[in-house]
Amino acid sequence: MSFDIEVVSEGLHGRVMVWLAETASTMRDAARLAAAGCASGTVVGAEFQTAGQGRHGKSWHSEPGSGLYFSVVLRLPLPPEHLPVMTMTAGLAVAEAIVNVSGIAVDLRWPNDILIQDKKVCGILIQQQDNALICGVGLNVNHSSFPPDIAPVATSLRLAAGREFSRESLLMEALNAIDRHADILLQQGTSAILKLFSQSSSYVYGRRVVVEQGEAPLRGTTDGLDANGFLYLRQDNGARKLILAGGVRPE
Ligand code: BTN
Repeated sequence: MSFDIEVVSEGLHGRVMVWLAETASTMRDAARLAAAGCASGTVVGAEFQTAGQGRHGKSWHSEPGSGLYFSVVLRLPLPPEHLPVMTMTAGLAVAEAIVNVSGIAVDLRWPNDILIQDKKVCGILIQQQDNALICGVGLNVNHSSFPPDIAPVATSLRLAAGREFSRESLLMEALNAIDRHADILLQQGTSAILKLFSQSSSYVYGRRVVVEQGEAPLRGTTDGLDANGFLYLRQDNGARKLILAGGVRPE
């Protein structure tokens, strides 16, 4: 694979890091590195993405130089059914990094959006590539505004705190936190992550939400997680439905 502009560091805690001025999507770059057999922990980041990918086929707004846009290749001995819990693990990790660096209180929206005052500050996308997981993180750091279509639902650390933050400090803190939280998952199992997530998220119990899935959105009240990290929704007709995928938003 060739990159036009790159900084590759192999000294940082033994981690390979590729940083690009511009790319289509760091998910694609990381997937190619994973397919080529790169080490676990390898990071690809970019100042600007021309085709940043969000969940459910959406795009990710990647304003040049303002945000953190990176993907980490993780090779963890996890069975496929632990994939949803891995997305929550990454969400918990990045949330912790944000709090440690900025001091701003955050919330987690199932499965892995990070919110400040109910607006999205960070999205996480996990994809599987052969035997590796690609964990993509898009964090709005120093954005001073957003395009009209997402402005009502998006925020940045700068907008929340009224000052700028070091993207490098956030990156280092996030990478270390991802390693630490992956260790919790491997050593203590899914129940430890589900407990941490339930403690950190106002969305796990008792939130009125709309779940966007398929043609007809579902409405109801959140009612806990199952053992694999899927969300229970108590529908208005009384039925308890397990939500396997789909975007959750406040009603
Ligand atoms: C979401 O929709 O909430 C997930 C957004 C994930 C965005 C990040 S930015 C870095 C990485 N590269 C991408 O193309 N997407 C992820």
